[in-house]
Amino acid sequence: MNAQEIIAKKRDGLVLSKHEIDFFIKGLMSGSIADYQAAAWLMAVYLRGMNAEETTHLTEAMAHSGRMLDVEKTAPLAVDKHSTGGVGDKTTLVVAPLVVAAGLSVAKISGRGLGFTGGTLDKLESFPGFSSDLSVSRFLENLSEYHIVVAGQTPDLVPADGKLYALRDVTATVGSYPLIASSIMSKKLAVGARTIVLDVKVGRGAFMETEKEAVELAGIMIQLAENLGKRAAAVISDMNQPLGRAVGNSLEVKEAIDTLRGAGPDDFTSHCLTIGTQMMLLAKQAESEREARTILQDRLLSGHALDRFKDLVKAQDGDPSPIDDLSLLPQARVVRPMSSPRAGYISRLDARTVGLTAMDLGAGRKKKGEPVDHAVGVVLHKKIGDSVAQGEELCTIHAESEDAAQRAEARLLEAFDWQDHAVEPPPLVYQVVR
Ligand code: URA
Repeated sequence: MNAQEIIAKKRDGLVLSKHEIDFFIKGLMSGSIADYQAAAWLMAVYLRGMNAEETTHLTEAMAHSGRMLDVEKTAPLAVDKHSTGGVGDKTTLVVAPLVVAAGLSVAKISGRGLGFTGGTLDKLESFPGFSSDLSVSRFLENLSEYHIVVAGQTPDLVPADGKLYALRDVTATVGSYPLIASSIMSKKLAVGARTIVLDVKVGRGAFMETEKEAVELAGIMIQLAENLGKRAAAVISDMNQPLGRAVGNSLEVKEAIDTLRGAGPDDFTSHCLTIGTQMMLLAKQAESEREARTILQDRLLSGHALDRFKDLVKAQDGDPSPIDDLSLLPQARVVRPMSSPRAGYISRLDARTVGLTAMDLGAGRKKKGEPVDHAVGVVLHKKIGDSVAQGEELCTIHAESEDAAQRAEARLLEAFDWQDHAVEPPPLVYQVVR
């Protein structure tokens, strides 16, 4: 068996055996299979897909590429959540400390920016010194002491996902059911929480553009979770326009801190409460949605959730001072308001265009392993359904240079549409799949 044969088999639409998938992932890890071969294989999987058995084998092979933990031994109330990726999706920054403040534990492996979507680790690294590269012993110590860990893939923890994730990011192979499902579920399997809430995004700023596709992806992941002995629920949530107002790493951190102070945008706050509620219900820590939401609202307003966020930053070597003084977060050189060329109601705010603009400003990567600029991005002042006067501010661009800001403005204008009559904003949540 060799890599070319396995790539050719998938290229021709054939089904790979467990043995072939294990061989490929082991080769990727040992270096006997090169990155360019992995990239070709990813494209073959992207184009040809994988059946449920292949996806399960891939998930298991990726999880077993590193150490397998059982976090429930350290934290019996460990619950995990994971988003399939979106624009302005800073939910983990709020939901993880929020549910920890309500008595749960969160031990989570998150990702970096993927394609036009942002990544939790890039956002958290806006805090000087923050480290997502934790040894297994540190991961478990932090969990035991603080009940909250948000780490990255390391040579010890799902290293195969670390490699494939970085390659997918720059080879246009992200939006594939088996690749997304195995990437997410291998991380859940390796860490060991048995209760998982999946936030499956749908719309222009997500990898699934229709509700039908999102429900199908949710079904694949829930089935995978069951096959692996876990309980999962999926919230199918809107990603046609960005979530909240901020898009870009430190800008999103600032918005998350505002939200943890009870002063975040309504849509984002409500989304965090929805995901947190599902985590509380699945972990059997509340009997009804109403009870869960009331507990979580209390933890937000009392400041307990913000304290748990400070724990997270400090425990992973970050300097928490920006939490009390937001001006200490990375700041862009150029801050340029962009005004509306016409009056009306915003009828479209294309999340993908906003995500791509933020990426071009430097918030995401174009090449594997590139550093990101934590300061840059976009803050939206108007969203779908809002009325705007001609010349009123639509958004603010945070850029490294005037040129970059000008390019961003031209692109962002394409993200908006206006109508003369009132427009209903899209729903935040389409359905919950159990
Ligand atoms: N999040 C992940 O961890 N992997 C994906 O493929 C998409 C979102």
